[in-house]
Amino acid sequence: MHSNKQAITAAPIAPVLASRWSPRSFDRDYLLTQDEALAILEAGRWAPSSNNLQPWRFAYVSKTDKLHKELCEKGLTGFNQSWAPDASALIVVAVKKATADGKELTGAKYDSGLAASMMLVQAQEMGLHTHHIGGIVRDEIHQMLNLDDNTEVLVVIAVGKIAPAEQLEGPAYEREVAPRVRLELDEIMLYGKP
Ligand SMILES: Cc1cc2nc3c(=O)[nH]c(=O)nc-3n(C[C@H](O)[C@H](O)[C@H](O)COP(=O)(O)O)c2cc1C
Repeated sequence: MHSNKQAITAAPIAPVLASRWSPRSFDRDYLLTQDEALAILEAGRWAPSSNNLQPWRFAYVSKTDKLHKELCEKGLTGFNQSWAPDASALIVVAVKKATADGKELTGAKYDSGLAASMMLVQAQEMGLHTHHIGGIVRDEIHQMLNLDDNTEVLVVIAVGKIAPAEQLEGPAYEREVAPRVRLELDEIMLYGKP
């Protein structure tokens, strides 16, 4: 299953990174254990950040949570509604826009991306998979989580146990079995050739 998903790299990279990819087929019956959920959130918490300001904020919405249905129906856009509800949990990543004394947190989104990245790696290391979702209705999620004006919703991360691609249909299935593609290293390098 999914044998074409391993990253093809010019030099070996950490197995957890090479094997990470973003499926849409998740085991509908699997629920994360408390330790799994805590480990993912802790991995995000221990991310580096500019001046150690830790501007990220997370909401953990398990499939069993009363908010899950509303988050899926009102917070996700069309295509994402077809697969993301199968994941065990949805993690909303939000960010503080300014410090308590009103200074704009210019590096906050970068910091929050790092925190999200840490969560992906932690989940993958535990045999789980994740899938970022930017196709969300930010205002709806902001409202349903009762967030203040200084907090901006960035992304939702679906996390769970992978299931066979055949669980999906149509475009979702096609994408699930397609090979992963990347720009060549030469195309993204600005300077320096190893
Ligand atoms: C910020 C962000 C937003 C994304 N939004 C969506 C989305 O709304 N729906 C979706 O199916 N995939 C989404 N993705 C997943 C990307 O399409 C995926 O990461 C990319 O194609 C690379 O594939 P890989 O993660 O399997 O390597 C998003 C990824 C990121 C990082």
